[in-house]
Amino acid sequence: MALATKRTLEQVNGLTEPEFVAMFGAVLEHSPAYARRAWAQRPFESAEVLAAAFRQAVQQDDPAAQMALIRAHPDLAGKAALAGELTAESAGEQRSAGLDRLSPDEYERFHRTNAAYHEKFGIPFVVCVREHTKDSILEQAERRLTHTPEQERQAALDEVAKIARLRVLDLMEETP
Ligand code: GUN
Repeated sequence: MALATKRTLEQVNGLTEPEFVAMFGAVLEHSPAYARRAWAQRPFESAEVLAAAFRQAVQQDDPAAQMALIRAHPDLAGKAALAGELTAESAGEQRSAGLDRLSPDEYERFHRTNAAYHEKFGIPFVVCVREHTKDSILEQAERRLTHTPEQERQAALDEVAKIARLRVLDLMEETP
């Protein structure tokens, strides 16, 4: 799912802040400000350390901003997906789990699950879909629906960090 030319670690460590934000601004959904904070941590020893800088920037943010970041995510197999309004990253991720080709019954299950989750937590259900199948996504939603709101904010942020990590790795040339 490479959207831009992949760069080596050395090239990434040499980027100016605007160049870095242009390259990594979409790592966190609709939230390029985190790329500025990650850039401030350079130089990075590895792609994993770079991904960890994004995770840390999110973990260190205040709870209201963390909730806004979670809310920046579209529903899985939701209205934005049906309308073709997803970011390229989200569209690719949802495609990887087959969420772009659900049967009417499956759409209905996702719709009901998303609605129950929104109703309980007031945020979209975020999960690193590239690590899942459509069934395991729904199972995870059922399990997470038993969480308290605080447990769920942490669970959602963990998933956001996993999504960010895979997006970072997509953009990096693998080093031998
Ligand atoms: N997991 C991976 N990408 C996404 C996304 O765009 N939205 C949600 N809700 N979860 C995701």
